[in-house]
Amino acid sequence: MTWREEGQKYILPLYGRLPLDIVRGEGMYLFDSEGKRYLDFYSGIAVNTLGHGHPEVLAAVEEQMKKYFHLSNYFVTESQVELAKLLVENSFAGKVFFANSGTEANEAMIKLARKYGREISPSKFRFVALNRGFHGRTLGGLSLTANPAYKEQFGDLMPGVTHVDLNDAEALERAVDDHTCGIIFEVIQGEGGLSGVNPEFVKRIKEVAKKHNALILVDEVQTGLLRTGKLFAYEHLDLVPDAMTLAKGLGGGLPIGALLVSPRLENVLKPGEHGSTFGGNPVAAAAGAAVMRVLLRPEFQENVWECSTLLRKGLEVLQMKYPEIIGEIRGRGLMLGVEVGSHALTLRDFAQEEGLLLNITGKTVLRLLPALILTKVEIEEFLRILDNGMMKIAKGE
Ligand SMILES: Cc1ncc(COP(=O)(O)O)c(C=O)c1O
Repeated sequence: MTWREEGQKYILPLYGRLPLDIVRGEGMYLFDSEGKRYLDFYSGIAVNTLGHGHPEVLAAVEEQMKKYFHLSNYFVTESQVELAKLLVENSFAGKVFFANSGTEANEAMIKLARKYGREISPSKFRFVALNRGFHGRTLGGLSLTANPAYKEQFGDLMPGVTHVDLNDAEALERAVDDHTCGIIFEVIQGEGGLSGVNPEFVKRIKEVAKKHNALILVDEVQTGLLRTGKLFAYEHLDLVPDAMTLAKGLGGGLPIGALLVSPRLENVLKPGEHGSTFGGNPVAAAAGAAVMRVLLRPEFQENVWECSTLLRKGLEVLQMKYPEIIGEIRGRGLMLGVEVGSHALTLRDFAQEEGLLLNITGKTVLRLLPALILTKVEIEEFLRILDNGMMKIAKGE
């Protein structure tokens, strides 16, 4: 029995696992127990921003671990401060709260908005969120998430959440009123098929938020940290959020989440009103600061832009070659979705055989989230394997 098979005996079967025994990662690649190499286009679902085993992250983690692993939030640690400073100095935010995950960062954001609303009126606790959005698995995160498949089995959730369709400005206007404390959305919907908010919708969000004194809450758990070509995806828009959440790529593979708040909201949550034992763990924060230092380098950003253009162009060439297989190509930067209809699973399995790990979302979309250390060599490898897979499908093999 392999350890993967043994896992079925001891671990709750909540995930659809891939039939692979991965033993090691290096840069853009993973290796299984038989030594087979896979080009990793999952990158831990946008977590391993700098690939596997990045030397600067490794060094920062080692150095921190030699000092101490954990102190508790009775102490502020140097790595937390370093990471917070890098986040604040490079965003709209005035201050940061550290959590452990995306959903926990969103819980903090929910509490911030609830408290903000309550200080205005006890009935100002409602949220407007988007259909096909995803905000995490805690009861608060689930309440903001529209998809019934994730939540209907759990009974009553947080009251007062209205969902409207992405880019339906009229529906948004109808849903937001003086009882709304926050409007939450992703700039590009990661789990929902890689569609994004359009400028007209954003304009309307700003108008209704202002009119009804509601907070603009941006969930950048997946889109943040250069994933879309800008450090934060809201920078593509004419928009300054009131609060934003990050997680996934922030710790370069270690668990850390963050809530960033604008200066005017710094004093909404008072000491003792929110907290976390592990939030801002010094080792995860040290990894986060190392990740941020790399992401902020101009030459690193240039590589991300060049690779994004190359990858997209390559996909468009395939789209012209296989119009019956490839539908829309959505997303931005290195967060792309390729609509392939009923061929998604066939392509995923073929790619795996050929040494390429491809993720699927919404059953019909190939979700491409490669590490941001991608180069031309891996893009060519990726496109070659995808081309071969599509050729087989086109030939009816
Ligand atoms: C946009 C968004 N928000 C929140 C979450 C939840 O993050 P976590 O799984 O770290 O709790 C995710 C996870 O996929 C996400 O994509």
